[in-house]
Parts: sequence; structure tokens; C-alpha cells
Amino acid sequence: MAGTAATLRIVISLVLLSSALCDEPSKLQRKLRATLNPGCDICENRTDITLVHIAAESDTDTIHYVWDFTGKPTILVALTGKDARFHINWDLLMDSKPGSVNFTESPRYTFMAVINRIFQYDDADDRAMLDAGSNVFVYDPHEFTWNRSLLWSNEKDAMMAISAGNDFLFKLNAYSTKDHGMDFPHLLHSSNSTQIDIVFNNITNRFANPRFAVELLFVVSEQAVVGSDFEVTKRKTLDDEHTPGIFEIVDVLSPGAFTFSAGGYIEYRPVSYTNPARLIASSTETRQSQPVTIDAPSVALKTTLAFALYGDGLGQRLVQGMNVSFGVSEDGFYRKTNYTTMTFQVGYGMPPAEELSAFVLIVAGIGIGIPLVVLTGGLLYVCLKKLRNRGRFQQERL
Ligand SMILES: *[C@@H]1O[C@H](CO)[C@@H](O)[C@H](O)[C@H]1NC(C)=O
Ligand SMILES: *[C@@H]1O[C@H](CO)[C@@H](O)[C@H](O)[C@H]1NC(C)=O
Ligand SMILES: *[C@@H]1O[C@H](CO)[C@@H](O)[C@H](O)[C@H]1NC(C)=O
Ligand SMILES: *[C@@H]1O[C@H](CO)[C@@H](O)[C@H](O)[C@H]1NC(C)=O
Ligand SMILES: *[C@@H]1O[C@H](CO)[C@@H](O)[C@H](O)[C@H]1NC(C)=O
Ligand SMILES: *[C@@H]1O[C@H](CO)[C@@H](O)[C@H](O)[C@H]1NC(C)=O
Ligand SMILES: *[C@@H]1O[C@H](CO)[C@@H](O)[C@H](O)[C@H]1NC(C)=O
Repeated sequence: MAGTAATLRIVISLVLLSSALCDEPSKLQRKLRATLNPGCDICENRTDITLVHIAAESDTDTIHYVWDFTGKPTILVALTGKDARFHINWDLLMDSKPGSVNFTESPRYTFMAVINRIFQYDDADDRAMLDAGSNVFVYDPHEFTWNRSLLWSNEKDAMMAISAGNDFLFKLNAYSTKDHGMDFPHLLHSSNSTQIDIVFNNITNRFANPRFAVELLFVVSEQAVVGSDFEVTKRKTLDDEHTPGIFEIVDVLSPGAFTFSAGGYIEYRPVSYTNPARLIASSTETRQSQPVTIDAPSVALKTTLAFALYGDGLGQRLVQGMNVSFGVSEDGFYRKTNYTTMTFQVGYGMPPAEELSAFVLIVAGIGIGIPLVVLTGGLLYVCLKKLRNRGRFQQERL
């Protein structure tokens, strides 16, 4: 009896397992169409001018992703009607003129994340905090010479590798489905988001105890209103099979995102890997400052896609920024490995929620199932034995 039940259990588990393994990959949510330097005649065969436009089309609308490295690196996410087109006037764009890019119809929503500055700072007291008193070396990414080494796309995925010298290595991805990224920290993405991965690779140390930080600026089409700010929230996750050892996700949400689930966000795990193998053993933490409003945004963002799109209209938009720094006290500073990473997603709507995977469910199922089988088997055995004993007593009494 107990044997049959156990066999049944195993069969059921195997069926579940195989159906999970043979799960259809999730359906395409959007179809991607990537174009390098759209409409640029002088750009042909040049790896130093890079603006990639990706139209991610659903049945009802289009999300446009733009990876722009012609000015300060800027990631644009714009939600439009299905037929909106993105236009670039290259002569004006190269001169950082306002109105040099536009959409053929006004977007329903736009969100931009700008890599405004990169800091190397001296952490003399090993506090891993970048603050006003720190001794800082500032890199202006507008002055970098960018070199695109790879661009690859089809209707499901788009990927680009681009770097500034051998120092700052960027990898960007866009997706058509909900899934986890290829590399650690395996962030969960959807077709509403694009991923940016940065490696600070073997950069000359300028201080005795160097650390890095990056200043991100956010520009949303939402109106600037006093008291409405970006919000940093932290989510705990149970499921650590994708990012072992890291149980937290940081979301930085625009006011529209956290009030109506219709806004822009950036999302990351507070981990920075200090070795190309990206093992948890060789990692450190990240920290962010509280988002603050940027004064005179049309001056601060002069050499970005944000100014190209909005010009002086930036003054009416919500423009905020924050610093993300890499490292934690007693991790040996940047110089210990001369390697540190940052991976984040930029998207529209709400960051996708982690779900318990089929694998976890099966493990949990087996974990509950086997004790259940043992318990049932044990009970049956005891019952049978009692019954038999009773039978024997009755026989003896006869
Ligand atoms: C670009 O490269 C292609 C193939 O390598 C070549 O046929 C074409 O003439 C080049 N165009 C320019 C403007 O150099
Ligand atoms: C977009 O820019 C082009 C020139 O680059 C211009 O002809 C067109 O009128 C502009 N469209 C809108 C909606 O501003
Ligand atoms: C750009 O990258 C390619 C491939 O990594 C390399 O061969 C080339 O020398 C680089 N160009 C510059 C200007 O650094
Ligand atoms: C790091 O850069 C130095 C020069 O600054 C060079 O000698 C060394 O080979 C580089 N190391 C790696 C791992 O690329
Ligand atoms: C990191 O680079 C600095 C020079 O910028 C060098 O002195 C140091 O030894 C390097 N650290 C490692 C682990 O290679
Ligand atoms: C980032 O840190 C630098 C250096 O401390 C500071 O000047 C700047 O205001 C900070 N940026 C933001 C957006 O907080
Ligand atoms: C993704 O974008 C669409 C707009 O096309 C929106 O309706 C949807 O809510 C977004 N998804 C999430 C998870 O926010």
C-alpha cells in the first residue's frame, strides 16, 4: 500500500518536473526593431558615433528605447501610440541643439536616465560614503571617446557592447519577454525595460584608498511639482536561486510609478561584483543617496538627449538625481581588485515582481511530499500491525 503511494508521489513529481522543464518560453510581449544611428549619413562604418533606437511594439502601443552615446550616456524610454516615429536631425544633434530629436506624435510618457558624472574619490577613513567633504576626481562621460564593439539584434533581443578606452565597459540589452538576465545578478526584466551593465575595469588609481560612484540624473515627462519626488524603496526577496546571497531589490520610482503604476523606474540589486566571474564571494555592496531636485536642468543637461528632446522645456519637468557608490567598509577599496560592476534596469510601468519558480515549487513539493509519504506509510503500517495483532489475539482466545 505505502509502496504504491510513494511510487505515485514520485511519478507525480516527475510529471511536474518534466512539464516545468519543457515549459514553453514565455510569449513575446513585444516585437523589437533596432536601428543604429537612424538617418545618419556621416555615421556609416563609424564605431565612435552611437545612437541605437529600438521600437518595441505590442498590439496596442510602442515603447521606444534609445541608447544614446553621442552626448552623456542617456537611456530614453518613451511610451507612444503604435505608429509614432522617432526623428533625428543629426547636424543639430551633434551641436547639442534643442529640438534636434522628436517624435511624430507627442509621447504618452517619457523617462530618461543620464549618466551625468563618474567619481573616483578618496575614502581615507574607510566609510564608503561619498559626501561633500570627499577628495574627488570627476570624469565627464561626454568627453569620453566611445567605441562600439558589438551590436546585435533580432525581434526578440537587442544587445550592444560599447566602451570608453579599456576603463568603462558598458553592455546594454533590450528584451521581448519577461525573464532573468544572462549574467549575474540575473535581474528580472520584461519587455517594458532595458538593462545597462557597467564595468569599472582596471582604472588607474588616483588616490591611496580609491572608490567609485556614479551620478545618475532622471528626467520624466511628469510635471515638476513641489513635494513630489522620486522614491527609493527596497523589496526583500525569498528566491535567491538567481542571485545567491542577495535578498534585496532597490527600486527608484517616479511619482507616477508609485502612485499610478504608470511612470518610470530604475531597479537594481545592491551588489557590485569585484571580479569578472561575478561570484558572491567576490562582491561588495552599493549605496545610494536620496534623490534631489536638479536646479537649472537645461544647463546641467546641455549635452544630453534630454536637452535635445525638450530644450528649455526641461525647466517644467521633474528632474532629479542621485549618487550610487560602490563598496563597503573593510572591503579593501577599489584597489583590491581594480574591478567593480553595476547592473540596473530602466523601464516603464512597475518593476516586474519575482515569482516562485517551478524549480522552487517542486523542491518545496518534494520537501512536503516525502515526509507526507513517510507519515502516511507509517500510520498505515501501525494500523495494519494493530489489525493483525487483534486478529491473532482473537485467534488465541478461540
Ligand atoms: C562601409 O563598409 C562597407 C562594407 O565593409 C563598404 O561596402 C562601404 O563602402 C563602407 N562605406 C563607407 C562610407 O565607408
Ligand atoms: C520633427 O523634426 C523634423 C525635423 O527634424 C520636423 O520636420 C518636424 O516638423 C518635427 N515634428 C514635430 C512634431 O515637431
Ligand atoms: C574599438 O574596439 C575594437 C574591438 O574591440 C578594437 O579593435 C578597436 O581598436 C577599438 N578602436 C579604438 C579607437 O579604440
Ligand atoms: C591594468 O592596467 C595596467 C596599466 O595601468 C596594465 O599594466 C595591466 O596589464 C592591466 N591589467 C589588466 C588585468 O588588464
Ligand atoms: C590596481 O591598480 C593600481 C594602479 O592604478 C596598482 O597599484 C594596484 O596594484 C592594482 N591592484 C591590483 C590588485 O592589481
Ligand atoms: C553626488 O556627489 C557629488 C560629490 O559629493 C555632489 O557634488 C553631488 O551634488 C551629488 N549628486 C547628487 C545628485 O546628489
Ligand atoms: C508595460 O507597459 C504597458 C504599456 O504598453 C503597460 O500597460 C503595462 O502596465 C506595463 N507593465 C508593467 C508591468 O508595468
